[in-house]
Amino acid sequence: VSISQDNSRITASLPTGESVEVLLYGATIISWKAKGKENLFLSSKAHLDGSKAVRGGIPLVFPVFGPPPADHATTGLPQHGFARTSKWEYLGKSTSESSATPNSKGDASVKLDFGLSHTMLDKIPSEWKNYEFGITYSVTLNKEDLETSFAIRNTGEKDWEFQTLFHTYLAVDNISQVSVSGLEGASYKDKTQGGKEVKGTSGPITIGGEVDRNYSQGPTKLITIAEKNKPRYELYRDLLIDVVVWNPWETKAKGMADFGPEDGYKKMICVEAGSVMQWNTLEAGDTWEGGQRIKAL
Ligand code: BG6
Repeated sequence: VSISQDNSRITASLPTGESVEVLLYGATIISWKAKGKENLFLSSKAHLDGSKAVRGGIPLVFPVFGPPPADHATTGLPQHGFARTSKWEYLGKSTSESSATPNSKGDASVKLDFGLSHTMLDKIPSEWKNYEFGITYSVTLNKEDLETSFAIRNTGEKDWEFQTLFHTYLAVDNISQVSVSGLEGASYKDKTQGGKEVKGTSGPITIGGEVDRNYSQGPTKLITIAEKNKPRYELYRDLLIDVVVWNPWETKAKGMADFGPEDGYKKMICVEAGSVMQWNTLEAGDTWEGGQRIKAL
């Protein structure tokens, strides 16, 4: 396993060719290659210098999803919280390698750990300045998949509430050929219609215009993202009961200064696993763990 690191990013590659690249800014994964392909969409106009949340890859949403509500401890925080705009600390790596045989190199994997705690934050303009926390974020690159997981600890004496989500931008070749299955029947809040509650469709989801849906699914069923009817990604979730499906489509994409190229919306779909439809309470001293595994097929 080879790892390279400078003061802004960590890159890890397996002997079998897969790789992952993580910016310390936001602990944002900006590239994941497997089977000779890039699996994450990264906007050509994304800011990678720490001046703005990264448009693409896997940004982290914490402690609030979307714009913070009024009269809540998160009021005053930026949209999607501060995790994606804070500089994380690289805590180190763990590697495992199965032994090579005469015909194979053996499968290796690597886990990169990142940390963020309240002591590392710049001044935050909300009630959250009174809360104490420590998050370990682990990014594990295996030959077949990429796992991301969180251990969120309340290290203080006050209880607090949070929402969290992996804002994954998956790369696709052509959005008009993409379908998402595993959410059949689940109802959702349609943010393109002011959050209206909509009864889910029976078949797989296809995208032919702006889509911004919050699915609350309860059980963490397998979600498959297919292209031309062939499964391309499988998304497995651990304790992340909600799923957001987002594509800004043409007009909204044009409205985002950091979105490129202009037709880039055809090359991406956000399928975001999280816990965002309600608040999770974390009592003083407690730890919450959740994660996802994305398999590239
Ligand atoms: C999605 C939301 O998760 O993130 C959308 O459902 C939002 O409503 C999108 O537009 C992008 O958010 P941002 O803050 O990265 O532009």
